[in-house]
Amino acid sequence: PHEGYGRTWAKAILIGEHSVVYGHPALALPLHSLRMQAWAAPATEGEEPQLSALDYEGPLAGSGERFGGLRRAVEVTLNYLGTTGQGFHIRTESDFPAGRGLGSSAAASGAVVRALLDAYDAAVSDEDILRLTNQAEQVTHGHPSGLDAATTSGQGPVRLEQGAMRTVRPRGAAYLVIADTGVAGSTKEAVEGVRGRLEADPDGVGRLMDELGNQAAAAIADLEAGRMEPLGDHMNQAQELLDALQVGHPTLDKLVQEARSNGALGAKLTGGGLGGCMLALAADGDDADRIGQALKAQGAQQVWVHRLVA
Ligand code: MEV
Repeated sequence: PHEGYGRTWAKAILIGEHSVVYGHPALALPLHSLRMQAWAAPATEGEEPQLSALDYEGPLAGSGERFGGLRRAVEVTLNYLGTTGQGFHIRTESDFPAGRGLGSSAAASGAVVRALLDAYDAAVSDEDILRLTNQAEQVTHGHPSGLDAATTSGQGPVRLEQGAMRTVRPRGAAYLVIADTGVAGSTKEAVEGVRGRLEADPDGVGRLMDELGNQAAAAIADLEAGRMEPLGDHMNQAQELLDALQVGHPTLDKLVQEARSNGALGAKLTGGGLGGCMLALAADGDDADRIGQALKAQGAQQVWVHRLVA
């Protein structure tokens, strides 16, 4: 093998996080300006494979729970290739922060899978790459819906429902403003918390989940028809429901309110919640810039503007 390279992207969930884990529809899109890159360099005999990722530099084998998904990505890919005797030094480099609902764990696993396949010049179907990435994601957060893995490797917006995926073609014009609260939120903790509340109150929490699914389905239909105002309303409703599922955070609430009072058509958290990022729907580029400035003034650590409709 030679040194291999893999690349994926950040993702934003427009609507349907959490309920997608229970089979409801969700829509997410790759953010192609925010890359995740990975390199896999063959280790020579007797050399211990090293990892360089985020703030960690050290042996891959000793990189702890935080990098369990990456180690699994290496393991399943080498198994798949049937070359388990060869070790690899792994390095990742990200344009976006981890633990903020932007899909960094799935993006890193996907990039590492691709880098290892590239090291062997292996031509592998997208389905197989996705399957390997999802196996790594199971270590990171238990029962992933597969939305993050699919979107961080994807070309455009996708709708996922019960594991079935299709591309979505948005119509009309709109921008997304994505803002980082600076508060780290664990997707694993959020997903486990929701599961506990659903088990404790299947009827009550089940109704919230169904309603979140309904809002997502309606929002996706609106996006495909270019109806941006109702799309924004559904995003606002989804935010209420996610709050009721207890995956919100006061800093998210503050930024969501700020975006709405600066003309956002809708605003909500994105990803697992408990912190992380929020996103706002803006009718045009000027609105998006104004909302972005307002969010920064309210303490958002970073703001990205993304054109939703190409
Ligand atoms: C996390 O980005 C999205 C969740 O819906 C979990 C998942 O889909 O696996 C919270």
